[in-house]
Amino acid sequence: MHTRKNQRNLTRTEKRRLVNALLELKRSGRYDEFVRMHGRYYVTDAEDDPRAAHMAPSFFPWHRRFLLEFERALQSVDSGVTVPYWDWTTDNTPASSLWAEDFLGGNGRAGDRQVMTGPFAYGKGNWRINARISDGKFLTRNFGRPSDPVSLPTKAEVAKALSDPLYDADPWDSTASRGFRNTIEGWGAGGSDRWRNHNRVHRWVGGLMLGATSPNDPVFWLHHAFMDLLWDRWQKAHPRSGYLPRRRLPESHPQYRRVFSLDEPMPPWNVAPAALLDHSRLYRYE
Ligand code: CU
Ligand code: CU
Repeated sequence: MHTRKNQRNLTRTEKRRLVNALLELKRSGRYDEFVRMHGRYYVTDAEDDPRAAHMAPSFFPWHRRFLLEFERALQSVDSGVTVPYWDWTTDNTPASSLWAEDFLGGNGRAGDRQVMTGPFAYGKGNWRINARISDGKFLTRNFGRPSDPVSLPTKAEVAKALSDPLYDADPWDSTASRGFRNTIEGWGAGGSDRWRNHNRVHRWVGGLMLGATSPNDPVFWLHHAFMDLLWDRWQKAHPRSGYLPRRRLPESHPQYRRVFSLDEPMPPWNVAPAALLDHSRLYRYE
């Protein structure tokens, strides 16, 4: 049993140990295996393949297991390290200590968006991007996307998503107009609603946080730890609700075999959402 803390409360020593464990996973090549795994399971609903990770009900349990595996890898380097969470409703500016020199480093520079500060700046020699779709060996960010500004989600927006007692709804994809899962994952129909909550955080950071290989930016883990915590909050707010779909969809359903119901094992771990609903024996949030 370990504790995941709000990143703003980490001591200097805790930050240094986390950074060192991240750099060691990177050095050994294990970090990039996680990036590639995420890329493999970033299946959109325009494709016919099963969707375990995104645009689907198992968004929460899949990422819970993904983070747990990553956290275990970090702990194999330093048993005292856990994944902190980034509450972007509170730490919502580039001035946050999250982006300081001693932690994740700051924004990308103008032009090529290259991150020039902190332990993950290419110039420091420890963070070369290997697993990505286009070229470029350096970490990139573009906070707030100044050319077409985007802001981080607010407490009110998150509260609205949390107030929905329905977990997810037919058609169980990026177009579901009801349900906590899609509201918080953040696929919208269009206009200003196009990117909400979880998705808008990826947009706000920009650079490599966009798209299938977003774990190339270490802030990915802190963002998804907060998503994991929000799933907890939703469960506590709606004790009589639960994961949906509860049963395997019928063969006649267009999403048959493309989404994972409560007891259907998810790749690559062969673990069903039902086994991931409760993390209280593994870790807690503080
Ligand atoms: Cu993901
Ligand atoms: Cu994400």
